[in-house]
Amino acid sequence: MGKGVLQYAPTIIMNDFKIKKQIITFLAARGEKHTSGEAMSESLGFSRAYLWKYIGKLRREGFDIEAAPHRGYILKSHPDKLYGYDVGKNTVYHYESIDSTNDKAYELAEAGATEGTIVFAEAQTSGKGRMGRKWVSPPGEGIYMSLILRPDVDVSEISTITLIAALSVTRAIKETCSIEAGIKWPNDIMIDGKKVCGILTEMKAEPDMVDFVVLGMGINVNTDATLLPPGGISLRGVLARRVERVSLVKNILKNFENDYEKFRSNGFAALREECKASSAVLGKRVRVEEHTRSTEGVVSDIDEKGALIIETDDGSFSRMFSGDVVLCREQL
Ligand code: BTN
Repeated sequence: MGKGVLQYAPTIIMNDFKIKKQIITFLAARGEKHTSGEAMSESLGFSRAYLWKYIGKLRREGFDIEAAPHRGYILKSHPDKLYGYDVGKNTVYHYESIDSTNDKAYELAEAGATEGTIVFAEAQTSGKGRMGRKWVSPPGEGIYMSLILRPDVDVSEISTITLIAALSVTRAIKETCSIEAGIKWPNDIMIDGKKVCGILTEMKAEPDMVDFVVLGMGINVNTDATLLPPGGISLRGVLARRVERVSLVKNILKNFENDYEKFRSNGFAALREECKASSAVLGKRVRVEEHTRSTEGVVSDIDEKGALIIETDDGSFSRMFSGDVVLCREQL
């Protein structure tokens, strides 16, 4: 097997994944209480030998599972790795290193992967940002994940999904780290004017129908300041301590699941006010750069479709569905 093939081999095979997930869920629910091997195999429906084999696998992944004589198993600690054992019912792929989780998710989606499939990586060798930029992805420091969605929406509504994802990340940062972050419509999350998270949304679509969307999120969690591009910041940089990636990911996905469901049943209306309240650009002077034009003015609203409304200097209003938002100099 060539080196390239090994590098891209997933560390989790799906069946294995489900078994390990069951064991971790069981032990986590038991908390501080021990469970005998007998009770556990009975409850999970595995033989004792099978259970022992998988406990061994989990230990090798970094889970500290103690086996105390006469008392049984207890989960003492878990590694801060994005295995995805605690992220709901999603199908999860986890890689130690990959070129780009977005590229992998796109490939899986083309091959028929279902909505909700998630690709996590501990490191990316060619992490992609928007406009051909790179995303710094050192091992174990950031969150690099891509989510496959198959929404029944118009192509013009895709930036709304990006916005909803940004809202989930903003909320999760608040819940996990007690930090107020703001959304620089629709793709970036900012703390004190610096970028902590970027979202790269890619899709395959026919003129009138979206086939699938890949929602790629990159979050600077514990990334060293010296590795970040100018204008970047990490959560560790703000808090002066490391942040557990596993808890943050769990909160992001819990929030996104709720909000995406609301969006699917009632459209963007239910989330609009919260997006506006979390906006880092509302009321500010910006320049929105698209491929062929650039529009400057003051952000007056985020409308019911998630579009950015800019009041330009001649008093007219422009409705933007996509673009790169640059805060004008006087507001930086
Ligand atoms: C941006 O701000 O320009 C978007 C950055 C998106 C980075 C994430 S990291 C996970 C996913 N895989 C990639 O290659 N890119 C996105």
